[in-house]
Amino acid sequence: MVLAKTKKELNTHLSPINTGKELGLVPTMGALHKGHISLVNKAIFENKTVVVSIFVNPTQFNTTEDLKKYPQSLKRDITLLQKVSDKIIVFAPSVDEIYSEKVASKVYAFDGLDKVMEGKFRDGHFDGVGTIIEAFLTLIKPNKAYFGEKDFQQLQIIKKLVALQGIPVEIIGCPIVREPNGLAMSSRNERLSKTIREEAAFIYKTLQTAKTKFGMKSAKQISEWVEAQFEKHPIFQLEYIKIADVSTLKPVRRKQKNKKYRAFVAVYAEDIRLIDNIALN
Ligand code: PAJ
Repeated sequence: MVLAKTKKELNTHLSPINTGKELGLVPTMGALHKGHISLVNKAIFENKTVVVSIFVNPTQFNTTEDLKKYPQSLKRDITLLQKVSDKIIVFAPSVDEIYSEKVASKVYAFDGLDKVMEGKFRDGHFDGVGTIIEAFLTLIKPNKAYFGEKDFQQLQIIKKLVALQGIPVEIIGCPIVREPNGLAMSSRNERLSKTIREEAAFIYKTLQTAKTKFGMKSAKQISEWVEAQFEKHPIFQLEYIKIADVSTLKPVRRKQKNKKYRAFVAVYAEDIRLIDNIALN
């Protein structure tokens, strides 16, 4: 494993590598957990060299408060990645290195994918994500880039981004890694108290039950049932439940046989916001 903190250092490591068709990229914001490592392992399996970027991207945060609270543990992350493989180049630049002129996002036309769910509740978030991912893809030029289905909307938006900008890269979606109790792994889980983290099994359990209802009940009935479960719960507040078509992310009206659907939730535990989703068919 090698570490590059600047674009120049990164290029020094990348230029002698005759990667051919075998350079992978795993973009992260650090505070690495098993969910991130599953992406890294898949990338290592499929590529000769893998760049893991660790960069807490300021333009995708809606409040400075949330940005300040985001966990950072670069030393620990590097130690972890050292144990994973010697094929890894860690790219951990400073904000100035990436946003040399101005810390601002580009504005994209994501065909409405960015206007629902996370986009609706986090204004400008996906322009920030698009900006940093376009910058990394252009700089690193990987053949494949890996994203988790944990952030399913983000994954679909990145696919749209590379199509829009004509970036020659294959975008690979990877399954959600969960804690033993079913809670989707997230860097934000570190901020949950032990009790709440245990109680958070409720989120995935509710999604699983919603899935069993999908054949029998309408999307509206299922959403109302999910809302009712959260209303009764003393700890978790539901921000949204959406049942949507996986490719358009539009809410399902009438189910169609050849379409795939997922249920998406955002939930607050005190001031900590958690998201999760489940494939319904
Ligand atoms: P971050 O939240 O650090 O996540 C980095 C990648 O890990 C994303 O593709 C995310 O979907 C994936 N991931 C996180 N938790 C996961 C889990 N439990 N199972 C599977 N995959 C998981 O997402 C971001 O950073 C940023 O928005 C980024 C894409 C790096 C742009 O700044």
